Amino acid sequence: MSEGKILIVDDNESNLEIMAMYIESEFDNETILGSSSVDGIEAVKENPEIDIVISDYYMPGGDGGQLYQWLKENRPDIPFLLVCGENQDVVEKLPELSGLFSGDFSPLVSKPFKKEELLEKMKLVMNKELIKVIDGYKRISIDRFLTFNKCFVGAHLKIGDNKMLKVVNKDDEISEELIYNIVVKGVKYLYIEENEYESFMDSAMSEVMEKLATRDGDETEKVKLQMDSVESIHEGLRYVGMGERAIELAHGVVESTLNTIKSNKKISSILKTILKKDNYIYELSLLTCYISTAIANETEWATTETYKKLSYASLMQDVSLKSNDLAKICKKTDKAFEQLKPEEKQLVLSHPLKSCEVVEGLGELSPDVRNIIWEHHERPNGDGFPRGLNKSKIGTLSCIFILSHEFAHRLLTEPITHELLESIHGDLDKNYSSGNFKKPHEALKRAFNR
Ligand SMILES: [Fe+2]
Repeated sequence: MSEGKILIVDDNESNLEIMAMYIESEFDNETILGSSSVDGIEAVKENPEIDIVISDYYMPGGDGGQLYQWLKENRPDIPFLLVCGENQDVVEKLPELSGLFSGDFSPLVSKPFKKEELLEKMKLVMNKELIKVIDGYKRISIDRFLTFNKCFVGAHLKIGDNKMLKVVNKDDEISEELIYNIVVKGVKYLYIEENEYESFMDSAMSEVMEKLATRDGDETEKVKLQMDSVESIHEGLRYVGMGERAIELAHGVVESTLNTIKSNKKISSILKTILKKDNYIYELSLLTCYISTAIANETEWATTETYKKLSYASLMQDVSLKSNDLAKICKKTDKAFEQLKPEEKQLVLSHPLKSCEVVEGLGELSPDVRNIIWEHHERPNGDGFPRGLNKSKIGTLSCIFILSHEFAHRLLTEPITHELLESIHGDLDKNYSSGNFKKPHEALKRAFNR
């Protein structure tokens, strides 16, 4: 086995498993796995013989940029490949990745990644030669073989440079004694014949997907899974005109709020109730957070404190509602509202105050957060709820929030097209350009390059 080890870092377990399987199946080098930049840095310290690092960018426990910076300073000899759903012209502007894209070769492996692209780029950047697995065989770690071998393919041990010993026959279950014997000898990998490998991979892939779908993980895991859609949120915001710097800033705010929430038991147990619901409430929360940060960034209230208040309000606004359908009702004039039963109408009308009560029970959030949530369905002309405040009575942070909420809601519930954007901006111009909404609305136009 080659000395050069391969480090793969990704917070998404399924991506990590799949990348590892692709790499292991082709090359005889040892692979080491991590799920954050912190893991990655530790692994390189412990294994100085690591010969290449392949890392995801967005990871809640420390992103790929941090890992790259550390390598640049401490181990510039190790090549680095970035696995990311963003285009190169986006990631090369990230300050944490400065220097990564200076050569002719692009170290970006686009996501969802293709096996060939990943393996080709690895071969191109590795300092030492990758050791090819013997022709006719694919390699698999013993752990993964035991986890995924539901279709009972045969398996071999490598006993010399070009020699294989069959230890498991096709359709046989692998015995505990055999596992004990090979693990004791320090063997980490088994080899599957190439013609059986495809059925093995099919069963492994469906197993990985099933594991994810049925996982009843803790809230931290769910935040991570939900955050996987962050790349599509970025893509959407870019499409509707938000600048890269604003997206970057908002991404940082969302990440740090989610991390703070994860470390606060009370709040994270409340957040669990949001994450359990289908997607709308959570997506609305995230998107409102992105948009309100971007708007605030264009105003005189552009401080970390403001971003924090807006992001907490974004995540908690509908915490008292149990149904996505009720959360989708923004105004009393919506047709869907008129069709509700009286008790459902009551739930909608009282949810801003009820969400405030939940937030108050947490005791740690500022009165401004409470106020934003209380006012998040008020309207400039006074026909909102619960209090019917008008544009001169609604607080400024609430005005930023209401604009963001309306924008986010429409992006989530209507097909995003050029016509939709024109219609949203037209409606905002008509309804939100005076009173306390004037400055936030102007800021929104700057944030979306109008
Ligand atoms: Fe709401």
